[in-house]
Amino acid sequence: MKIIVTGAKGQLGKELLEVFVREGYSVFPYSKQQLDITNPIQIREVFQKVKPDVVVNAAAFTKVDLCETELEKSYLINGLGPYYLAVEAKERNVKLIHVSTDYVFSGDQLTPYVEGDAPFPKTIYGKSKRLGEELALVFYENVTVVRTSWLYGHESENFVNTIKKLSDHLNEIQVVNDQYGCPTYTKDLSNVIKELVTKPSGIYHVTNEGCCSWFEFAKEIIKSLKKQTKIVPVSTEEYGLKTPRPRYSVLSNKKLNDSGIKVRNWKDGLNEYLEKEFKYED
Ligand SMILES: NC(=O)c1ccc[n+]([C@@H]2O[C@H](COP(=O)([O-])OP(=O)(O)OC[C@H]3O[C@@H](n4cnc5c(N)ncnc54)[C@H](OP(=O)(O)O)[C@@H]3O)[C@@H](O)[C@H]2O)c1
Repeated sequence: MKIIVTGAKGQLGKELLEVFVREGYSVFPYSKQQLDITNPIQIREVFQKVKPDVVVNAAAFTKVDLCETELEKSYLINGLGPYYLAVEAKERNVKLIHVSTDYVFSGDQLTPYVEGDAPFPKTIYGKSKRLGEELALVFYENVTVVRTSWLYGHESENFVNTIKKLSDHLNEIQVVNDQYGCPTYTKDLSNVIKELVTKPSGIYHVTNEGCCSWFEFAKEIIKSLKKQTKIVPVSTEEYGLKTPRPRYSVLSNKKLNDSGIKVRNWKDGLNEYLEKEFKYED
């Protein structure tokens, strides 16, 4: 089976390559420089050359604060990009797996979001990602949308690596304690995406099991790294983020579980990640 991965240099893209290669697929990784998903002509050329069976779109504009000021870029990459991929995929009868986000929800709910819950994004990032989902799903029936949350992957800028870096220099770190979500290891997400290649298309929520606040997440990172840094809980207001984040964006894996796919608890994923990422450090 031939698989194209877009955004192949991103934290998820890199892990997808490893998982698909290990599985014995013919993988064709495309970085932003090699395939710009906002360029339909380039998409056509790549599809013509590779003749893929499946395309996994891990390309996105993921800088939540920047999206607020760079609207055109956000909607182009996160909204129109998936649509252009869906147009070409439909033309050639190729399955499209598109990765999306918990930010399509408002975060005002108090129970885990299921696939049928109404999206109500509050940020430009969330709105542009929702547009991408809608355009792809409306245009082509063989699209799988994978919504995930709080991703961390190797050798990338992410929350886990930021906490580790800060803890190397600080005795105390303030972390928000009133936003809840599901930390998700790119390796676990990639393994599920591999399974979804052969499952019926549609929307799936995929995260590591369990949920926590950013404060609890940071405490677990420090505990696993056996460091002494104090993690201090603060409210969103006290922390003063530029762009509001969803208060509660826990995604339910129920549909995924019902289809026979299980994901391990976030603490187990985190421990394996930390072991690999910082293996050679003291
Ligand atoms: N990170 C999270 O916490 C999180 C949470 C929920 C969902 N997600 C979703 O998960 C997916 C993967 O996220 P990630 O964390 O792996 O993001 P990432 O590390 O930022 O990777 C995204 C990749 O897409 C590339 N890209 C940007 N514009 C592009 C374009 N026009 N054409 C092709 N490639 C382009 C980026 O290149 P440059 O870096 O050079 O711009 C980057 O390599 C995204 O769909 C994201 O929305 C992420």
